Amino acid sequence: MTQLDIEAIRRDFPVLQKPLPKGNPVVYLDSGSSAQKPQCVIDKEREVYENFYANAYRGVYQFGAIVDEELEASREKVRQFINARHSEEIIFTSGSTMSLNLVASGWGRRNLGPGDEIVINEMEHHANFVPWQQLALQTGATCRFLPLTDDGRLDMSRVGEVLSDKTKLLAVTGMSNVLGTITPLAELARRAHEFGAVIVVDGAQSVPHEHTDVITDDIDFLAFSGHKLYGPSGIGVLYGRREMLEQTDPVIFGGHMIDRVYKDHSTWASLPAKFEAGTIQITQAIAMGAAIDYLDAIGTETIREHERKLLEYAFDRLQQVPGMRIYGPGIEERGAIISFTIDGAHPEDLAQLLDRRGVFVRHGHHCTMPLHDLLGVRATVRASFGVYNTHGDVDALVEALEFARQRLRLC
Ligand code: ALA
Repeated sequence: MTQLDIEAIRRDFPVLQKPLPKGNPVVYLDSGSSAQKPQCVIDKEREVYENFYANAYRGVYQFGAIVDEELEASREKVRQFINARHSEEIIFTSGSTMSLNLVASGWGRRNLGPGDEIVINEMEHHANFVPWQQLALQTGATCRFLPLTDDGRLDMSRVGEVLSDKTKLLAVTGMSNVLGTITPLAELARRAHEFGAVIVVDGAQSVPHEHTDVITDDIDFLAFSGHKLYGPSGIGVLYGRREMLEQTDPVIFGGHMIDRVYKDHSTWASLPAKFEAGTIQITQAIAMGAAIDYLDAIGTETIREHERKLLEYAFDRLQQVPGMRIYGPGIEERGAIISFTIDGAHPEDLAQLLDRRGVFVRHGHHCTMPLHDLLGVRATVRASFGVYNTHGDVDALVEALEFARQRLRLC
């Protein structure tokens, strides 16, 4: 592992070089929502459009062949990045939400029925919550909830109370988008598999920040998004173990995903085409490969270490802000996400006042209403960090909070 050259990294992101209209620099602390893009990703999309753009998997002419090769090269990069066994286990989707919905509708409706149980928990993002809730309503299955500890971790001592022979599926985040909690995936997979249940992981937050290995962790399905991985928006991935994908029905029908269409029925193409109906997001999928190359060149461990130091510093500094309440576990079990409230301040007011200082954070329920109900707050402010953030960004956040507190007459 090498030390990350933060100045060099920042130069790779054109948006970070440009001052805001009032002259102050951007302090971007919303990578949990969507990450900024390095020049190589921007260039890759441009390269496709300028040099060889064509539809995918259709043309035998030269541009078509280059696009197909580039797409398959990108699929292979994704495979290696998460250590999947086969490239056909990598399905291009529009993002984590689509990937999780695909599993719920395609695998869930075929394999679940009355009496079966789906295990989720209250810190899940709505994308890994509502599809299971709806699946339960559609199939007669029941959702059970893994309890959380007071500091926002999964209460692993109570897993045995919830998992049983009735459990067919356990859906869990790799990293909470609000609390930053990193979940013990290998242990959860082992416990789920003891009961013959399938484990589905929402990796939207974890894949860009933590080393992901679907074989070591024994994950059945994994969803993540390109746009949080410093890649383009509109592209995402569903990884599924081949046997799992074979037991999954397609949910979007049309061109490319068929083997043979008759007047009264159709048969499906083999993996991955079965789940890639229509024209896929060609440039985005190719440019996601460039994002993976970029992250690989820096090194996942190096990124993780950089973000861990930032988290430590931010945690320390934020805790000293008067009225500060940080939600979730200590730094040992969290990724670089900190959600907080300040006594007497509405999160939206805080976010707006921080914006005046060029500090960009997200506020609200962050698509986790059940979690906010559990925390007893309607909204929080969230600072989420990425590879390009610095200790100076943390200082700017703390100074901007001081400014906000003064404006709100809290000091
Ligand atoms: N899921 C994204 C977030 O947590 C949008 O902000």
